[in-house]
Amino acid sequence: MSKKILVATEKPFAKSAVEAILKVFNEANYETVLLESYTSVDQLKEAIKDVDAVIVRSDKLTADIIESAKNLKIAVRAGAGYDNIDLDAASKKRIVVMNTPGQNSNAVAELAFGLMLYIARRGYTGKDGTELRGKTIGIHAYGYVGKYVAKIAKGFGMKIIAFDPFIDKKVMLDDGVEPVDSVESLYKNSDYVSIHLPLVSQTEKSINYKLLSLLKRGATVVNTARAEVVDEVDLMKILEERSDLYYCADVAPTNRKEFEDKFGLRVFFTAKKMGAQTVEANNNAGIAAAKQIVNFFANNDTTFQVNKF
Ligand code: 3PG
Repeated sequence: MSKKILVATEKPFAKSAVEAILKVFNEANYETVLLESYTSVDQLKEAIKDVDAVIVRSDKLTADIIESAKNLKIAVRAGAGYDNIDLDAASKKRIVVMNTPGQNSNAVAELAFGLMLYIARRGYTGKDGTELRGKTIGIHAYGYVGKYVAKIAKGFGMKIIAFDPFIDKKVMLDDGVEPVDSVESLYKNSDYVSIHLPLVSQTEKSINYKLLSLLKRGATVVNTARAEVVDEVDLMKILEERSDLYYCADVAPTNRKEFEDKFGLRVFFTAKKMGAQTVEANNNAGIAAAKQIVNFFANNDTTFQVNKF
């Protein structure tokens, strides 16, 4: 039976990814509606009201929007983090929510190194910098992105440690990564801490003053995960107290200007969240999302479902 699919991307996919998604849905005989670079929630509400499935990126699917989606059976987040989707609201309506784990992870990991190099080379100003070789990188959460970060760090000749209570230590050891027993130990012993936590209630503001104050002299914290996992007030406080620390992020704090004005080259934020904004990552995540939708309708495949009902 034919289906109507919405691709709602406030931050559009690369052109090749859009073409590939359309191809998957055309072959399945589905109708596709593209809503790109939209500027108001009402546009999304209007577009989602009669579709059977939706693909989103960081686009917010709030309870209100989900309520207006009268025919929706499946929502796929083309990416890893699904903190932008109200899972309870979706589950109440028996809407399957999926993500596409691993598909854009290399892009995010590469950007983490782009940020580290920017800080290490003092914003490419020509001022004396430092090298990554021989430094210790602490990977905070060892999921798909963390794994890619470890791979790249090896090439840079870094010592790699990681903390993740949900991952078997053997997985890290097999990758040549030294697991540490506590998050405190990670922050104490790293020259670079790279954050790869998902945003859930337990991780929100979990990177706080207590943890940040343990950082080694001259350390840099790199956040390509979510702004909300770092307590911004505490971050400001520690950067004020310790002029040896650096912070860079693909997910800027809400008061980014204050950080930039106060700390200059000790902080850096990308113009907009762009970790996964590569042609390759868009192709991978977009095609995976489209195929997961086809597979769901054709075979009832719920492999990547993240909600329960
Ligand atoms: C993710 O969770 O997959 C990344 O944060 C990418 O988000 P984006 O699709 O908004 O770029």
